[in-house]
Amino acid sequence: MNHEQLIKQYETIKARGKKLDMSRGKPSPEQLGTMSRLLTAVIRNDECFSETGTDCRNYGGLDGINEMKRLFGEILNVPMEQVIVGGNSSLNLMYDTVARAMLCGVREDCKPWCKYDQISFLCPVPGYDRHFAICELFGIRMINVPLLSDGPDMDLVEKLVAEDDTIKGIWCVPKYANPSGITYSDEVVRRFAQLKPAAKDFLVFWDNAYAVHELVDEEVPLADIFTLAEQYGNEDMVFYFASTSKITFPGSGVAIMAASERNLDQIRPILAKQTIGFDKINQMRHVKYFGSAAGIREHMKKHAAIMRPKFEIVDSIMHSELDGTGAAEWVNPKGGYFISLYVPDGCATAVYNEASKAGVALTKAGSTYPYGFDPRDRNLRIAPTYPSNDELRVATHVLCEAVKFAAAKKFFDLVN
Ligand SMILES: Cc1ncc(COP(=O)(O)O)c(C=O)c1O
Repeated sequence: MNHEQLIKQYETIKARGKKLDMSRGKPSPEQLGTMSRLLTAVIRNDECFSETGTDCRNYGGLDGINEMKRLFGEILNVPMEQVIVGGNSSLNLMYDTVARAMLCGVREDCKPWCKYDQISFLCPVPGYDRHFAICELFGIRMINVPLLSDGPDMDLVEKLVAEDDTIKGIWCVPKYANPSGITYSDEVVRRFAQLKPAAKDFLVFWDNAYAVHELVDEEVPLADIFTLAEQYGNEDMVFYFASTSKITFPGSGVAIMAASERNLDQIRPILAKQTIGFDKINQMRHVKYFGSAAGIREHMKKHAAIMRPKFEIVDSIMHSELDGTGAAEWVNPKGGYFISLYVPDGCATAVYNEASKAGVALTKAGSTYPYGFDPRDRNLRIAPTYPSNDELRVATHVLCEAVKFAAAKKFFDLVN
């Protein structure tokens, strides 16, 4: 696309009054439209009974129906007995896990986190802004740990957790991480399972939000954290989270957490004070719609067919516009929802501002780091899934212009 064509397309899109939005990892309307049958997957009264006879229309069944536990258990390779089915958001379950630890302690023999002068979390960076926001809200100090191509820098993680007992947790997105797209290697997962933290109430927040979100035919395997943690007597350290937000409808899906038996014994009575139960009709809808774990995998192929071209558009335009400029680095991921873009040090905020002025919304520069502060101001999270393919082409060209402009300005400022 030449400059004139770009301006023309941009003006057309601007005339529609639409901002080009590459800021959040949301499915496109087209993707949501593929699941209209889910909306009516339960329509009759007699479809509302679970296999154990629970009436999904009524109170009861605090931790979810068996069918839903089994479905998640199968896709995540976790025993269904370890699964608690929650409401519509895994982030909510993560928040509650931190809040419970703050108020009640992680287990009966542990002091509530709020009684400590200071507690800290390790935050692999770049990472997910909403994880960091939970820490910020509770006044938990965040310590950056570099995320490498096979997972967090485990030498550093092992060292820090072993010598600092204020460190009570670490955020992990082990598969197709938000935003880097990397998947933890078997070795990294094993090292997590083997951690020897100084704090006995240290928790690994294993947020497997993108467990089945392949973009290509090849499936990237993830080692099984619970099986490994059990081998090292560390199963109480792991809290596992997932949801169907990016499988069905974000905000109207089903979320789960999984934990050891000992942890579940502590969680359930507290959960029972929070709620009489979650939305079991929605659980039943999901169960009937998918039928099985294989049904979910088949369904995800339809999503990939819609999403893959979007990632290809961004990747190919960035190659054509930015290769050889030295102004950008990125990896086209095999799954997940994001592309992590690195621009020259000190340029990410400028790219964000320039793109924003031209009507393209990116996730705010700095968001992928705790406190919104990227020490090198160089990482941007690109979310290609929401815009239409036409919008995405224009938005990516605008983004590339912004990158070149910011990099040239930095160079110009340096030499003057
Ligand atoms: C890593 C990660 N965890 C959790 C969530 C939110 O999940 P939920 O909708 O289940 O709260 C997202 C959404 O983008 C995410 O990227």
